[in-house]
Amino acid sequence: MRTSFLGYGALVGAASALECTPTAIQGALPSNATVNFAYPVSANGTFQVPTGDTGYPTSPVGLPALCAVSVQVQSVGNTTFGFGLFLPSDWNGRFLAVGNGGFAGGINWMDMAPGSRYGFATMSTDTGHNSSSSDGTWAYNQPGKVENWGHLAMHGSVVAAKTVTAAFYEKEISYNYYSGCSTGGRQGLKEAEKYPEDFDGIVAGAPAWWTSHLQPWTVKVALYNLPTTADYHIPSTLLPTIAAEVLKQCDPQDGLKDNIISDPQGCNFRPEELLCASNVTNGTAASCLTSPQIDTLYKIYTDSIGDNQTFIFPHLNLGSEGQWILVSGDKPNNLGPDYVKYFLGLGPDWDFYDYSEDIQRLADKVQPGNATVGFDLSAFHAKGGKLLSYHGQADGLIPTGSTPYFYNHVTRTLQPRGIDVDEFFRFFFVPGMGHCAGTFANVNAPWYFAGANQALNLGNTVYGVPGFRDEKHDALLAMVAWVENGTAPEQIVGTKWVNDTTQAEVMRQRPLCMYPKQAKYSGSGDVDAASSWECKLPY
Ligand SMILES: *[C@@H]1O[C@H](CO)[C@@H](O)[C@H](O)[C@H]1NC(C)=O
Ligand SMILES: *[C@@H]1O[C@H](CO)[C@@H](O)[C@H](O)[C@H]1NC(C)=O
Ligand SMILES: *[C@@H]1O[C@H](CO)[C@@H](O)[C@H](O)[C@H]1NC(C)=O
Ligand SMILES: *[C@@H]1O[C@H](CO)[C@@H](O)[C@H](O)[C@H]1NC(C)=O
Ligand SMILES: *[C@@H]1O[C@H](CO)[C@@H](O)[C@H](O)[C@H]1NC(C)=O
Ligand SMILES: *[C@@H]1O[C@H](CO)[C@@H](O)[C@H](O)[C@H]1NC(C)=O
Ligand SMILES: *[C@@H]1O[C@H](CO)[C@@H](O)[C@H](O)[C@H]1NC(C)=O
Ligand SMILES: *[C@@H]1O[C@H](CO)[C@@H](O)[C@H](O)[C@H]1NC(C)=O
Ligand SMILES: *[C@@H]1O[C@H](CO)[C@@H](O)[C@H](O)[C@H]1NC(C)=O
Ligand SMILES: *[C@@H]1O[C@H](CO)[C@@H](O)[C@H](O)[C@H]1NC(C)=O
Repeated sequence: MRTSFLGYGALVGAASALECTPTAIQGALPSNATVNFAYPVSANGTFQVPTGDTGYPTSPVGLPALCAVSVQVQSVGNTTFGFGLFLPSDWNGRFLAVGNGGFAGGINWMDMAPGSRYGFATMSTDTGHNSSSSDGTWAYNQPGKVENWGHLAMHGSVVAAKTVTAAFYEKEISYNYYSGCSTGGRQGLKEAEKYPEDFDGIVAGAPAWWTSHLQPWTVKVALYNLPTTADYHIPSTLLPTIAAEVLKQCDPQDGLKDNIISDPQGCNFRPEELLCASNVTNGTAASCLTSPQIDTLYKIYTDSIGDNQTFIFPHLNLGSEGQWILVSGDKPNNLGPDYVKYFLGLGPDWDFYDYSEDIQRLADKVQPGNATVGFDLSAFHAKGGKLLSYHGQADGLIPTGSTPYFYNHVTRTLQPRGIDVDEFFRFFFVPGMGHCAGTFANVNAPWYFAGANQALNLGNTVYGVPGFRDEKHDALLAMVAWVENGTAPEQIVGTKWVNDTTQAEVMRQRPLCMYPKQAKYSGSGDVDAASSWECKLPY
């Protein structure tokens, strides 16, 4: 533990050693990296995202005074990747990398902004291509680009951006952090596994870590409910009915009726309560389900098991119906078929109705870009790294169960070697939260704790947890306290403001508990106050 922990504001604050110009920044880079631009943004200024950045086109506003840098780096097979770097004038001595989403190619400038407001030198990579989140066409017959996306671009960007940061301030970086969600969560876990020296602390939300199973499963789960003309098809108009029944059965089962399903894993849901009376033959316009539709519902709520009883992927959670994008269209979400067509190389003519377990076996064999994360995090543990993961219990895009699956497999890998996993890796369920951020209108779960991408949902100048900028409420600061002060988080308090407006009053706060503990109401006191809750083992 160092004694330099003085809080989260500026630790350094010294004038930079380098000018904020392309020439000066170029001087700090190796010959395989070229500056695209470097210029100062004044206090309360806007960084104008260059036109043509498909992945993240929105320009962050209200920035602190900083130097905005963009660099292009040579990579494998005649490819390149780029990264963006915000170097705030009021530097806190730390480095923070943020992540990406889906297949998006682009620098995530918006998510760099909150970290720079805290004073972190903040970086994002474009992962080596230019595309929207759901577009995988760039990957076709491009193994170099896929390897950049899988792990090379993040690692290479981190190495180069740290060099620029240290040269810019003419001072060693004190600590290195990472915070990302979804694909960003995967990037964080991949770094912990493959490049353990890159970060001291990694916050990885809703990680798409098992991409070789998640993407094929995205096709498989959609087919449960297709074609839309089938008698077993559940139209999206019925989803609110299903969600209401799940809430009715599963909310009280967690011990407190509060519209938040806190323990979907512990709910014995009975879909037959939704069954239509015999006189209803067509469930489309109804508020009930036919027997074939009930069959579909069972499939969606059941883990995917392949041939020979092999576990393929966890099911969508009870309570995630408000975000059932993957099962409510007339075709699978693009992230599934594009992976099969362009990452696995079956080509643009592949028809998703031809999906079979052979596709899953092919994905396991090809492992595009080596993007899937393995369970051996021993090197990260050995160097003293800290890892914090979280996952919304109402996530409709990446099944919640995939993160405890990862956590438990890391435990199985490391505990027999005498490693105490709690010492360096902690996982937190977020009851009622959807994918990375947000809650459903009638649920109003306390979902906000300054995780990756969350601040943007509350306003374009929000950072940290307004009114609660401390390690008890803010996941990034919890990580800083763990790394720099040795204070390991037992819980993180989630916050929900009225209408998700930080100027409005706080509606609810509640602890998110370290897995496998669960938040239990103490039986007295305001249910909307965090102090009325305790994290307890469910057994
Ligand atoms: C920041 O800029 C916005 C306009 O971009 C302006 O409305 C606001 O008053 C400015 N805030 C400060 C503190 O200067
Ligand atoms: C990124 O892709 C978009 C859409 O295809 C295109 O308009 C734009 O020029 C591309 N930008 C870069 C930097 O290549
Ligand atoms: C590498 O890319 C450049 C620019 O796109 C191109 O001119 C060159 O032919 C490529 N070289 C190889 C070996 O593919
Ligand atoms: C770029 O060059 C530096 C210095 O030789 C090297 O350490 C780094 O690995 C290279 N980056 C990539 C992405 O190849
Ligand atoms: C179906 O049967 C129930 C109970 O017998 C009855 O209340 C309802 O009105 C019937 N609905 C239709 C559409 O006939
Ligand atoms: C059910 O009825 C609706 C109209 O109420 C119709 O559009 C739809 O095609 C019917 N579905 C089936 C499977 O018969
Ligand atoms: C299932 O297991 C049997 C016996 O180990 C093996 O021969 C067969 O190839 C497996 N099937 C698949 C689809 O993996
Ligand atoms: C994955 O990584 C291993 C070693 O780390 C390497 O041998 C292999 O070629 C890589 N595979 C792909 C598809 O990049
Ligand atoms: C630092 O650690 C001390 C002793 O464990 C604890 O009392 C204090 O609250 C911690 N401070 C922070 C900011 O984590
Ligand atoms: C919240 O939104 C509702 C509906 O738009 C509105 O009536 C109410 O005044 C808002 N409350 C606050 C505190 O913003």
